[in-house]
Amino acid sequence: MATKRIVPEVLKGEAVFPPPLWMMRQAGRYLPEYRETRKRAGSFLDLCYNPDLAVEVTLQPIERFGFDAAILFSDILVVPHALGRDLRFEEGRGPLMEPISAAGIAALETETFHVNLEPVYETVRRLRRRLPEETALLGFCGAPWTVATYMITGHGTPDQAPARLFAYREGQAFRALLDLLADQSAAYLMRQIEAGADAVQIFDSWSGVLDEACFEAFCIAPVARIVRQVRAKHPGVPIIGFPKGAGALYGSYRQKTGVDALGLDWTVPMAAARDLQRTGAVQGNLDPLRLVAGGSALAEGVDAVLKGLGGGPLVFNLGHGILPETPVAHVEDMVRKVREARR
Ligand code: CP3
Repeated sequence: MATKRIVPEVLKGEAVFPPPLWMMRQAGRYLPEYRETRKRAGSFLDLCYNPDLAVEVTLQPIERFGFDAAILFSDILVVPHALGRDLRFEEGRGPLMEPISAAGIAALETETFHVNLEPVYETVRRLRRRLPEETALLGFCGAPWTVATYMITGHGTPDQAPARLFAYREGQAFRALLDLLADQSAAYLMRQIEAGADAVQIFDSWSGVLDEACFEAFCIAPVARIVRQVRAKHPGVPIIGFPKGAGALYGSYRQKTGVDALGLDWTVPMAAARDLQRTGAVQGNLDPLRLVAGGSALAEGVDAVLKGLGGGPLVFNLGHGILPETPVAHVEDMVRKVREARR
């Protein structure tokens, strides 16, 4: 009998207990084997564009912890890079880009987009062959707003003030950028699906800094545009939206974008999370710092998620990416707690 991949089923609304689990940023610096491969790769971007090594690091957390889903190893910023923007990653500083202007937006180069991203598609094809039959493979992209913030500012900021100001002052160029990113990201996700991804996640890590009108225009509208395009071609493939920090706007985000599942950050109150779960699957939402702390902080956090959300469609996950300082033993502990949970 063929083994079933459970993550896509849950994302489409099936309730399973104990819930399947994976972790955002599960391939990364908290793993000694990742740090080892990373050293061999040269730069971080070399790692993203080298299918041999990208496959290797994607598989590392699966081999170690047996997660129910693997997530393609890449970065959300390969999309602007493939559109011709310059991109570097510096140790301790994160991504660095040349800040884009209105003229730069008009000059974005879509012609060679898929050619530039071919190593990513090759990684997905190889992963589907290498992964255990029952392990789901997730593709991903950044949401247009979050990707645009890095393109406009050139680096991370605490509140994305430069990108917000750019949006207010240069509305036309900014809207053109979001539309272009939405169309290219949709095409990018469809190629990942065609290469073997079972589901895809759209990371909107910076949606929590916007007022209601901007959230509607910069987060909801472009993601709805992506969902519409991907659905038209691949109606059966679940889409996870992760509008981190969306707070009271999570509900309208699901309703208006049409994503199948909602990634919840750790600040979403349990009552609100349960409410959201009535209209579809949720994923999350353990505070990554509970995983750093371990012990009772971790045990109580895992229990709260399982008790609060274990009765409906839930993919157990963190409320944001795992932090580099997280002890591997705490991850093992979390996996054991989730797997051994009984109602
Ligand atoms: O395991 C996985 O989840 C797959 C790989 C993955 C990476 N980045 C690898 C990575 C995924 C899904 C991402 C998404 C990503 N990248 C997001 C959205 C999710 C989030 O965390 O909010 C964002 C905003 C980025 C942009 C980015 N990339 C930043 C801000 C940084 C620097 C911060 C950091 O953690 O270093 C990166 C670098 C990055 N992306 C690393 C990894 C493993 C670390 C770089 C290294 O190993 O040297």
